[in-house]
Amino acid sequence: MSQLLIVKDLKKRFGGISALNGVSFEINTGEFVGIIGPNGAGKTTFFNTVSGSLKPDSGKVIFRGVDITGMRPSAIVRLGLARTFQLVKPFLNLSVLENVALAALSRRRREHDGLSPEAAALEVLRIVGLEARADNLASKLTHGELKRLGVAQGLVLDLLLLLLDEPFGCLSAEEISIVSEALRERSSLGVSFVIIEHRVRELMKLVSRVIALDQGSVIKVGTPDEVVNDERVLEAFLGRSSGIARSKGN
Ligand SMILES: Nc1ncnc2c1ncn2[C@@H]1O[C@H](COP(=O)(O)OP(=O)(O)O)[C@@H](O)[C@H]1O
Ligand SMILES: [Mg+2]
Repeated sequence: MSQLLIVKDLKKRFGGISALNGVSFEINTGEFVGIIGPNGAGKTTFFNTVSGSLKPDSGKVIFRGVDITGMRPSAIVRLGLARTFQLVKPFLNLSVLENVALAALSRRRREHDGLSPEAAALEVLRIVGLEARADNLASKLTHGELKRLGVAQGLVLDLLLLLLDEPFGCLSAEEISIVSEALRERSSLGVSFVIIEHRVRELMKLVSRVIALDQGSVIKVGTPDEVVNDERVLEAFLGRSSGIARSKGN
């Protein structure tokens, strides 16, 4: 498998907080990778620095052999990489279809496939199960439907690598299986995914490799089984809030 994304020693501070403390790893073409970590681990900051929303203080991001460190998000989208947001904020006075069609204007290969933005939008609304809501105002969507709208806005960009920030938050079990299926379908067409998700059990069914972050550092990379059974990972998730860990002076 070829390397699609290479992240080298990425660092980002916010005042006294080291949100990313030298993060390095690679994503291969066709991979489905999960990122887990407790709140504040640096997961969203990682997505922001890779997709261009934030400039890292130091380190490098190489995508398809191109150094994209510090490039604008719009230029990075044209190369085939973008992120979705933990909080989906659509234009509430536009329809579901219009919101996705707007995203479709930034589509990679827009000039080549001959699809109108609306046609491209309808296709992804179908695969996330929102086709019947296409003409509704975005303000009428439930939390779970909003999340699915966010996934549709990511998928319509026709990317090579999509970074999804907690796509399963607020979703019912049925919605999770719809979104998982949509992602699998795109994956079979050659799209790669990195998914931040707290719903670890559902995440593990999708991904082949997991990266665990804690306090701005990678603490474990491995198969889902290896990562969820790792002592440092368990401690990072449970340690700080559990009474047992506190009584150990943690
Ligand atoms: N824009 C910002 N300004 C100041 N601090 C931030 C900002 N974004 C994130 N942080 C801090 O950086 C750390 C990592 O945050 P974040 O990447 O959002 O973590 P996660 O997504 O893993 O919960 C946290 O301590 C958070 O408070
Ligand atoms: Mg986050």
